[in-house]
Amino acid sequence: MTLVRYGWLLLLLPPAWLLASAAGAHQEPGQAPAQARPYVVQTTPELVREGRGVFRRLCATCHSAQTTRSKVGPGLKGLFQRKLTPVMGHPVNDASIRDHIHQGGKKMPAFPEIKGRQMDALIAYLKSL
Ligand code: HEC
Repeated sequence: MTLVRYGWLLLLLPPAWLLASAAGAHQEPGQAPAQARPYVVQTTPELVREGRGVFRRLCATCHSAQTTRSKVGPGLKGLFQRKLTPVMGHPVNDASIRDHIHQGGKKMPAFPEIKGRQMDALIAYLKSL
């Protein structure tokens, strides 16, 4: 009589299943999960202003923001009007530029410490050039 003895266990299954799906349902209906959402910065004047500060501190020694002429690295004026990045030829979008900043290049150092609002600000600033 296994079923009689352990059949009651089956009663526990639906609540467990409901709990598990509730835990996974941390998002608004119709919204993609966080990982699947592309990284796109919604530019605001404050972000651009903050990003200019970050750029001056960490990037301006090697990059011009006013021209496309090279200092150590390429000038970044009009970067987001381009399809491909000037040196490595990567597609230009918020996520690819963020990844480049995190990983660096052949001669560009990596900046893994720039994240969150600071990265959003830097991207917003680069998009304004
Ligand atoms: C020490 C010099 C240096 C610093 C500091 C630096 N870069 Fe660069 N960057 C380079 C060089 C050199 C390249 C060209 C690719 C390479 O050789 O790494 C480059 C390339 C780039 C590119 C274009 C990539 C391509 O494929 O053409 C972007 C965008 C960029 N840097 C953004 C930044 C930002 C934003 C910062 C500040 C957080 C920064 N860089 C700081 C030297 C630097």
